[in-house]
Amino acid sequence: MSATPRKILITSALPYANGSIHLGHMVEYIQTDIWSRFQKMRGHECVYVCADDAHGTPIMLRAQQEGITPEELIGKTAVEHQADFADFNIGFDQYHSTHSEENRECATTIYNRAFDKGYIKTKTIEQAYDPEKEMFLPDRFIKGTCPKCGAEDQYGDNCEACGATYDPTELKNPVSAISGATPIQKESEHYFFDLPQFAEQLKDWTHSGHLQAEITNKLDEWFESGLQMWDISRDAPYFGFEIPNTDGKKYFYVWLDAPIGYLASFKKYCAENGLNFEDWWNKDSATEMYHFIGKDIVYFHSLFWPAMLSAADYRTPTAIFAHGFLTVDGKKMSKSRGTFIKARTYLQHLNPEYLRYYFAAKLTSKIDDIDLNLNDFMSRVNSDVVGKTVNIASRCAGFVKKRFDNQLGEIDNDVIAPFIEKSDTIAGLYESREYGHAIREIMQLADIANEYIDEKAPWVVAKEEGKDAELHQIVSTGIQMYRLLIAYLKPVMPTLAQNSEAFLNVEAMTWNDTQSLLPVGHEINKFKALMTRVEQDKIDAMLEETKTELAKEQALKESTAPKKPSIEPIANEIEFDDFAKIDLRVVKIVNAERVEKAEKLLQLTLDIGDGTRNVFAGIKSAYEPEDLIGKMTVMVANLKPRKMRFGLSEGMVLAAGPGGSDLWILEPHQGAQPGMRVK
Ligand code: 2FM
Ligand code: ZN
Repeated sequence: MSATPRKILITSALPYANGSIHLGHMVEYIQTDIWSRFQKMRGHECVYVCADDAHGTPIMLRAQQEGITPEELIGKTAVEHQADFADFNIGFDQYHSTHSEENRECATTIYNRAFDKGYIKTKTIEQAYDPEKEMFLPDRFIKGTCPKCGAEDQYGDNCEACGATYDPTELKNPVSAISGATPIQKESEHYFFDLPQFAEQLKDWTHSGHLQAEITNKLDEWFESGLQMWDISRDAPYFGFEIPNTDGKKYFYVWLDAPIGYLASFKKYCAENGLNFEDWWNKDSATEMYHFIGKDIVYFHSLFWPAMLSAADYRTPTAIFAHGFLTVDGKKMSKSRGTFIKARTYLQHLNPEYLRYYFAAKLTSKIDDIDLNLNDFMSRVNSDVVGKTVNIASRCAGFVKKRFDNQLGEIDNDVIAPFIEKSDTIAGLYESREYGHAIREIMQLADIANEYIDEKAPWVVAKEEGKDAELHQIVSTGIQMYRLLIAYLKPVMPTLAQNSEAFLNVEAMTWNDTQSLLPVGHEINKFKALMTRVEQDKIDAMLEETKTELAKEQALKESTAPKKPSIEPIANEIEFDDFAKIDLRVVKIVNAERVEKAEKLLQLTLDIGDGTRNVFAGIKSAYEPEDLIGKMTVMVANLKPRKMRFGLSEGMVLAAGPGGSDLWILEPHQGAQPGMRVK
């Protein structure tokens, strides 16, 4: 390892305090935690901090919906999040909240410094306002009829049916998703951070080795289209921190104080552990700072964040490490497919170290998505961890105990040599976040160990007279190889490592321990099963529970959604005769394809009993085309064909749900046949 210990501050992105942690989140926390544990094993001074991201409109409204204060909501979420992380062995040194005094102080300091330097500007803008609820409405809280295709119940900025994007002011019949009232346009003064002033400096910074190449390229596109002033204020009512000197009328936008939460969490750590905060944060600090984030929040971390830090005379990050998203069985995680698995649901059925190992085996330093294939997950963990690794200890420990009083003997040096030699290579791979490659190297060593034991067959030698010394050497070599494998796997599977350290009767292993062996005569402890196999029925039970949770959530959502008073006339009432005109038919989806350049559409070929119809349906966010082929559904068969950009659409299929991945086509009973009329 390097001679001088480094001082390293590591962060993972702060999860919002109004939702549960799911397996998609866990990719990042596991990736970061492995790096942090690795750096600590190397002997560096390393601090890993995180916090809940506790501010913003969704949190304020969710609390109102639950009839509690935002403080109560974020308090109970903090407990839930921290339990999930602890049970996944995420070893934060500090977990805090953006709704904390430290964060208020840090956000105020950064804002005041930026203000004093002239980086804060004000401008009056017009926005949608809910006159009943008396608040401005973020786009996602306005719903209405799409101005392009007429689909109802669409969000304020884009239509999920036809894919159009638009300004919320263009929506027809807009309503506030909170109260159901019609929004009005209202002016208000907003505060802006002058990002364009940092354009040159940021351009240099983003080309100076702080970012992955893919990210630098993406940023170049943004530089090309010009940086915009960043709106950092929100009007009351808002759950957040008041902007200084605004009489409680303006609040910091949640994304302003979210990354500042990294500082705040670290500040708390410094106060409790006697570190000097300024030493780590001053402009010329020799310490290192790394942010692990998802590829979706690169803009905030590689443009706004370094600009804000420079404006406040703080140091900028050493590097930002972005990762890709998690897919499950090759597809986007989806509630309707039952693959939106919560961390807690996983923990109720499966050992966290299985997932830590599986993610590690798949992770690279790139921003590609990683896939959790549940069959592969089971076979890989069973084969690598249980079959190849833990098995080495169980194959040797019995002989050491029964025949040699638990004491290790001489070893076969030639077999052990590559285990020690690989130390630097494996360290280099962890350091560069090429965990998948590191795991491959470690598993090659595990293969060597297993081949050695197979070839030497201690169970045969044990039965032969006068071969005690040979047997002792074989099983002692096996245990020494196991110890080195576990040392290499320790950042990934800390519990397995800890239990193995107890079995091996050694102190907590560091990376230096990969350069030495246990002495002859070292006494190990009784072997206990260190890890059991992944079982299919546990995976099934986890998926089943995920579906049950979804159904419960859905029912709760429906029961708390704002309802229009029943005495009000229905705005778009139709006569019975109008309804009778609609020809609803059962159809079979005989083909489904993606439509090039259409974000939301799938092209369906429908068997209508006496022929086929071509229909463009806005259901791409919820279905993979392959999954639709062969399904029955219901269509409006007498809708006048409509010419679309991609071709003629000859009808509409019926689907229900709030949108996004939560959208389901109507599926009639299995007895239904194409062409049947729906009555
Ligand atoms: O995207 C998110 O989930 C945000 N809560 C991440 C914030 S990371 C940092 F900036 F605080
Ligand atoms: Zn539309």
